[in-house]
Amino acid sequence: MQKTTVLAHSDIALIKYWGKKDKVLRLPANGSLSLILDALQTTTTVAFDVNLGADQVQIDGAVEEGEKSRVIAHLQRIRDLAKQAGLIKTDVFARVMSVNNFPKSTGLSSSSSGFAALTIAASQAIGLQLDERGLSILSRQGSGSSCRCVCGGIVEWIDGDTSDQSYAVQFAKGDVLPIRDLVTIVAEDKKQISSTEGHDLAETSPFFAARQQQISTKLQRIKQAIQARDFITVGEIAEAEALEFHSILLTSQPNIFLLYPGTVEVIHLVRKLRSGGIPVYFTINTGFNVHVLTLPEYEQTVLQALKGLSSVHKVLASGIGDKPQLLKEHLF
Ligand code: PMV
Repeated sequence: MQKTTVLAHSDIALIKYWGKKDKVLRLPANGSLSLILDALQTTTTVAFDVNLGADQVQIDGAVEEGEKSRVIAHLQRIRDLAKQAGLIKTDVFARVMSVNNFPKSTGLSSSSSGFAALTIAASQAIGLQLDERGLSILSRQGSGSSCRCVCGGIVEWIDGDTSDQSYAVQFAKGDVLPIRDLVTIVAEDKKQISSTEGHDLAETSPFFAARQQQISTKLQRIKQAIQARDFITVGEIAEAEALEFHSILLTSQPNIFLLYPGTVEVIHLVRKLRSGGIPVYFTINTGFNVHVLTLPEYEQTVLQALKGLSSVHKVLASGIGDKPQLLKEHLF
């Protein structure tokens, strides 16, 4: 059992995973598609140690109880697989240390990169030999959208009706359509509702059934637009999807209202820039921070405009990232 460190990137879904058909296995209600983001990174070191009496978990220098129990449950999944494979006879506990280079729990999908890094580091550290599909299936059970972050480029999560059929694959390499994502931070508050709680409310929205009816067509349309390198159509679909997703949140019972004044200010700016001829679109996850999507040649203009807004604290400029990588330097 070897200490292992993995760097994984977070992602932004252009077609969102929202709602589940199986809560325990985290099978999504629909397929989704995301961009892996090279600038948003989680690095995680895992070491199994026969001398430990319990798992030790530290994320960004601390750990909350909820996070800790989710990480431990995932480590247990990995130990159980290792027992089935004859790699260990009894449970061996692990020390896990993880750091993010972006604010966690603010709707920027730190659990996606976090669980992808944890899955790969822990399974490798314990000696499991899983291919990308196996890693994606395993990661999905810890945090749904993390199954996409074991891949690189533009990634599709095939929804599937069973655990073995629900995993992510690379849909296209990042250079097919070199989108820039200006991740615009308007606040670093901890979001008021976890996505796990949100998913459970999806079906309470009267609009959810209508969403389900047309989501696979929408997914097909965005895939065609990516292959055609048609950024305008990709942006239009992604922006409409973000608004539809938030309308499901707004009409869930109880409703989930996440947008801040700064969020709306950024949205207005994006639309103003667009009416001035700049191809720029937005999308938002379960939070208030905004992903502003544009093409490389317009990045500086959009960045300067965003920085001119008083509500914008920080902008993290990202391209499309690769799959996770093993690092030689460990965190402990
Ligand atoms: O994987 P979760 O439970 O954190 O849910 C992710 C939900 C969204 O970020 C809103 C959409 C997505 O597909 O990433």
